[in-house]
Amino acid sequence: MKKCAAALSALILVATTVFAAPAKRNDKAEYAAPPEAVRAWRDLGFEIFIHWSAGTVFQGRFKPEGKPPREFERDLWGEWIKARAGIPQETYDAALKTWNPKDFNADEWADIIAASGGKLVVYVAKHHDGFAHFKSAANDFNTYDWGAFHTDVFGELCKALHKRGIKTGFYYSHGKDWRHNTRRARDHITREEREYFEKIVYPHLRELSTKYGRQTVAWFDLGAREEFAKKCIEIVRKYNPEIMVSSRVGRGLGDFATGGDAYIPVTTRDAPWETCMTFSYHWAWYPEDRKYKTPEEVIRMLAEVRSKGGNLLLNIGPDVRGRITFREKTCLRKVGEWLKRNGDSIYAASPSPYDAGLPWGFCTTKPGKLFLHILELPTLDYVYVPGLKSPISRAYVLADEKKKPLKVEADPYGAKVYLYDAAPDSIDYRDTVVVLLYEDQLDIDKIPVLDNDLDTRFLPQLAAGSGPLKVTDRSRLTPVIDHPGVQEPRYYAYAFGFGRGAKATWKFHCAADNYFYLIVKYANMTDKTVKGLLTVNGKKHTIDLPPTFFEGRVWECFKTAVTPKPLAILKGSNQTVSFELAPESLDAALEKPAVRRLRASFMLNSLSFKAVYPPPYEGYGENPNMTKVEPEEGAEK
Ligand code: GLC
Repeated sequence: MKKCAAALSALILVATTVFAAPAKRNDKAEYAAPPEAVRAWRDLGFEIFIHWSAGTVFQGRFKPEGKPPREFERDLWGEWIKARAGIPQETYDAALKTWNPKDFNADEWADIIAASGGKLVVYVAKHHDGFAHFKSAANDFNTYDWGAFHTDVFGELCKALHKRGIKTGFYYSHGKDWRHNTRRARDHITREEREYFEKIVYPHLRELSTKYGRQTVAWFDLGAREEFAKKCIEIVRKYNPEIMVSSRVGRGLGDFATGGDAYIPVTTRDAPWETCMTFSYHWAWYPEDRKYKTPEEVIRMLAEVRSKGGNLLLNIGPDVRGRITFREKTCLRKVGEWLKRNGDSIYAASPSPYDAGLPWGFCTTKPGKLFLHILELPTLDYVYVPGLKSPISRAYVLADEKKKPLKVEADPYGAKVYLYDAAPDSIDYRDTVVVLLYEDQLDIDKIPVLDNDLDTRFLPQLAAGSGPLKVTDRSRLTPVIDHPGVQEPRYYAYAFGFGRGAKATWKFHCAADNYFYLIVKYANMTDKTVKGLLTVNGKKHTIDLPPTFFEGRVWECFKTAVTPKPLAILKGSNQTVSFELAPESLDAALEKPAVRRLRASFMLNSLSFKAVYPPPYEGYGENPNMTKVEPEEGAEK
């Protein structure tokens, strides 16, 4: 419970510092990057973040003197070690004096990054510990003047990267610096706060903006007051007029939304945004990290983020000696190899014409081209592209040099693309990209289509007529902190505010008669089972949704419940399904939360239709489980 409360308060902190009290609309325009710069930044698609904390000198461990020993296995969070372990400033400063990462070689890093296919590097030039990774006249607490290392890391890196045609930017923690009093008083600016900006932040930003060639991104963190946020933007833009500023600069300013660490929205977005993602469970290197992302995970994430209109900023954390670890560089190389063959579907690609993902994966587009990112291979020989109306003149697998044509068969609800025609070598189990060439406009009916193969997911974010329901639209992938024993916690996006009159309704088409199980993914944070009502084409079905909370974390509370029997759904357009809670069971349940201090609530993540496989055939009725099911009425034939 404690952890849960801490996580929630951390979220609230980020939300309030970054998103509260936005600057006025006209101000926003005045402080915005020019549209060509925004376009150019969006076209990059894949970027590398580097957190190389001098705090790695503690190797993730610190035993405070005179205090009871902490549990050795306790996570102390990479670059946060000073704050987390309560390391006194003098001890930290002294340790940094001894830091001499002899294996640092900017050219080696740049080669690894060039091989990854990343187009831009955001280097953490100053984190919350205040230690600058560049030579500075502002003070000597930097990699050049402090201690034995005597290196202008950012300078060397910019040189090596620019030589290879890779763009650069800097992360700069203006909102927090543990060596200065950056605490904000509620109603006035303290002398320390002003001094910190005038003596440290502004001079640093001038140095970063003028000494190291063109900078493309200023990645501010943790927000600042309006006056300071604006001045930071003015400085960086004065020297690099096209620089893109992160939304964490504060007060609703900035050119792209970062939306919290490791978040990916569930729906396609128009405004510029970015997912910043850890490679393992930490930003900076942490020796106990064991779960690193695989090439498959990164490639799939890249396809997802691009399809929703974002950029992926994937972090690496070089070790205490300055080496990029084997796991990270090998993975990056493999991602780079995939990008060599499939980059056309990622770089400068526009988002999906659909509002969210599809049963088998994601889409990206370019004029005249629709890219299908197929992550789940189909059961039958074809992939069903729902709602595709445009005639397709040619289809082929992007990675196939010979561009062997694939058969495309249109039906009233979409098109079948025969993947089995492809050269076997061109099928990539991580993400096979198929290119569909079309002429004129891309014409797509966005209503979901049930197609007999993979699950079709209905998201509350895309429901029509949801009454008082509200939705969150971001799911968090890997957590930044290590949760021992939990491999892949996930914070799901959901709809909340269930009460009387709250109902999510969706339209769908069905491309072939079949039986479907309905799967509800939900969190019931009460101590009683509630009854879900699923209405398919006017006919009600109830489903029991038992409590899901356990002594753990909120984001682990999502569970699934399945209708006991499959429902028959007939081929036809404009059918409907809705989800609500039976009012009596809801009233009873909402009286009492699952645990004290946590509000009793109910959250819906999604509703899925899972086709029964194989689809009906002659003699199918002999299956005793299926004969009992009556076809649904009301479908428009
Ligand atoms: C958070 C963390 C910080 C990390 C950053 C990256 O603000 O405090 O450690 O550098 O997110 O997104």
